[in-house]
Amino acid sequence: MTDFTTIRQYNFPTVIRFGAGAIGELPGHLVANGLSRPLLVTDPMVAGLGFFEEIRRALEGKGISVEVFSDIHKNPVKSDVLKGGEAFAATERDSVVGIGGGAAMDVARAVVLRIHHRRDLFDYDDLIGGDQYVTEEVPYFITVPTTAGTGSEVGRSAIISEDDTHRKRILFSPKLLARIVFADPMLMMELPPFVTAATGMDALTHNLEAYLAKMFHPMCEGIALEGIDLINRSLAQAVHRPDIESRSRMLLGSLMGAVAFQKGLGVVHSLAHPLSSLLDTHHGLANAVNLPYGMRYNISGFEEKFGRIAQVMRLPGGDGEAVVERLFAFNVELGLPTRLREIGVKEEHIETLADLAYADFAHPNNPKPVSRKDFKKLYTEAL
Ligand SMILES: NC(=O)c1ccc[n+]([C@@H]2O[C@H](COP(=O)([O-])OP(=O)(O)OC[C@H]3O[C@@H](n4cnc5c(N)ncnc54)[C@H](O)[C@@H]3O)[C@@H](O)[C@H]2O)c1
Ligand SMILES: [Fe+2]
Repeated sequence: MTDFTTIRQYNFPTVIRFGAGAIGELPGHLVANGLSRPLLVTDPMVAGLGFFEEIRRALEGKGISVEVFSDIHKNPVKSDVLKGGEAFAATERDSVVGIGGGAAMDVARAVVLRIHHRRDLFDYDDLIGGDQYVTEEVPYFITVPTTAGTGSEVGRSAIISEDDTHRKRILFSPKLLARIVFADPMLMMELPPFVTAATGMDALTHNLEAYLAKMFHPMCEGIALEGIDLINRSLAQAVHRPDIESRSRMLLGSLMGAVAFQKGLGVVHSLAHPLSSLLDTHHGLANAVNLPYGMRYNISGFEEKFGRIAQVMRLPGGDGEAVVERLFAFNVELGLPTRLREIGVKEEHIETLADLAYADFAHPNNPKPVSRKDFKKLYTEAL
């Protein structure tokens, strides 16, 4: 029973400029806001791509001084952020533009925090109440996604790992929202099939977990259902025969997933995070493999919601089992593995994985509770 006497807060604040060619507006936007010295934060791979060079040239063409910071890890760590902060200060920057996938945008967001917040970076960890220390101004922050996956471009948090243990920590503050997002599907035209598939399944996981998460938030649920539909209809095309339409739908689906998951995530993200910590598995790939197993765990007690998902996914039979089957088949169709052993997980990893998953921040929002024993069972099933 929903308690309608409880007062809740619903936020949808980010300005998103969406569409083919939207990146062309970046130089003018900086100039219009009196900014002339951005730090472009990206990863070493994106820094070498043709479109990145074009962005740099377009900025310089407008008389903007550009500095690039790209010295980051695949699963970013604290020292990446500290180096980025030093680069910002040493070259007297006035703004931060995060260009890339979730990894680059998360580092960019954490650098934004770092500039005027000088406590130890993990003092700002949301899980220990760190957002109370986010009291100072932050530099002007812009995001430009180049994958359709994490939706970090519209997020308020940055996932950064400890250098030594690789434990993922979550830095959060509403102040860390981008002031504007330039979401341009053309930047994704050359995204390789594997990255498209893995990041796309991350976006699908966001929408599915957000729809099911236990908080009362019908607005996010509506967005999540539409996000599921967009991704279900376009991901295979984006992987195998990419065109502007499939890239655009995927970009929207990933934006929507991240908007929706302010409602919460769930068991699948908690299964996935330890794989990145322990084995450096790509975040989207880790979600993709665990997704069918985690969804199957959630069916009982939530049959009605799974019925809605099945309907949105146009599945004859229309129940939770049909959704799970579709997710297994989806991974196969996209060329992704369906078993943990295919991504290097071994039986001896399971105890540690279960410990880490149980300690993870995502599953407390799962529609039903997940015990350490449940995590162990799920990993064993998926092995
Ligand atoms: N902040 C959040 O809300 C949030 C949510 C989920 C995940 N994350 C984090 O995001 C990270 C994963 O992000 P991701 O899935 O986008 O992967 P990623 O950023 O690691 O990018 C994947 C790969 O694709 C390459 N790439 C990116 N754009 C490209 C392009 N246009 N063309 C060709 N190659 C390109 C990158 O160089 C990289 O090698 C993880 O660190 C995860 O923890 C953050
Ligand atoms: Fe994710």
